[in-house]
Amino acid sequence: MPSLKGQVATPEGIVGIEEREFQLELFPECRKPSPRGMFVTFEGGEGTGKSTQIKLLSDYLHSIQINNIQTKEPGGTEIGQELRSLLVTGDKDKFDAVAEALLYYADRRIHLTNKIWPALNEGTWVLSDRFADSTVAYQYYGYDKKVSKELLDDLYQIAVGDFKPDLTILLDLEPKIGLERSFKKAINMDVKETRHESRGLEFHNNLRNGYLEMAQLEPERFVVLDANKNIEQLHIEIVQTIKERFKL
Ligand SMILES: Nc1ncnc2c1ncn2[C@@H]1O[C@H](COP(=O)(O)OP(=O)(O)OP(=O)(O)O)[C@@H](O)[C@H]1O
Ligand SMILES: [Mg+2]
Repeated sequence: MPSLKGQVATPEGIVGIEEREFQLELFPECRKPSPRGMFVTFEGGEGTGKSTQIKLLSDYLHSIQINNIQTKEPGGTEIGQELRSLLVTGDKDKFDAVAEALLYYADRRIHLTNKIWPALNEGTWVLSDRFADSTVAYQYYGYDKKVSKELLDDLYQIAVGDFKPDLTILLDLEPKIGLERSFKKAINMDVKETRHESRGLEFHNNLRNGYLEMAQLEPERFVVLDANKNIEQLHIEIVQTIKERFKL
């Protein structure tokens, strides 16, 4: 038996790593055992309807016997909940943009290793309310490029490797409408998760345009839907998208 340096989480589960192969083996290519669950992410600005639609999609998939879990970023795990409260409440300028990106990536790595990869490998679909595109949209486009795209790409490689969503649904909406919806919702929240909502309209316009640019750069992964339609109509379009994409 070769001596092991330790263990590391990969898309295929926890594996022991031989010392000399440590760097090379950190992210071996995902084997995608069949049938691996699908990883579907929902993206978009504040109040675009992500949480509403993810729940409806989850119910639909259960109704056709597709096992699935709903999750979210930040805070998809118990540990991540603590990072979430740091990230989405309080003063909008309480840390600098690089520190913030690192915290989002710590949350993401925990989310992948403790929840997303194990579920996918069991054949369970994972529906995530936000994933790495949110970090590019908020920390790069929204923050007027205070964090470089290269740094965010490097963090992605370190924490996520070659793994990516099978489908990303971008809910596109005029920011003014989304923010109105979000603030209305926040009235009934005990803890106000409105750290990002409190940024100006320019930030939210940059965010929206950034998302649209990202979708254009990766048309094979993104589907952009008009989120100004009513909840039921949007759900029908999402189900159609899923059926087409995954040949259901
Ligand atoms: N298509 C829609 N038309 C009108 N209102 C909607 C629509 N979709 C969702 N809403 C309402 O808008 C509010 C925000 O929706 P939701 O929480 O699903 O958005 P979100 O994208 O998850 O927001 P956040 O970014 O704040 O988490 C909710 O009160 C919801 O009921
Ligand atoms: Mg939400």
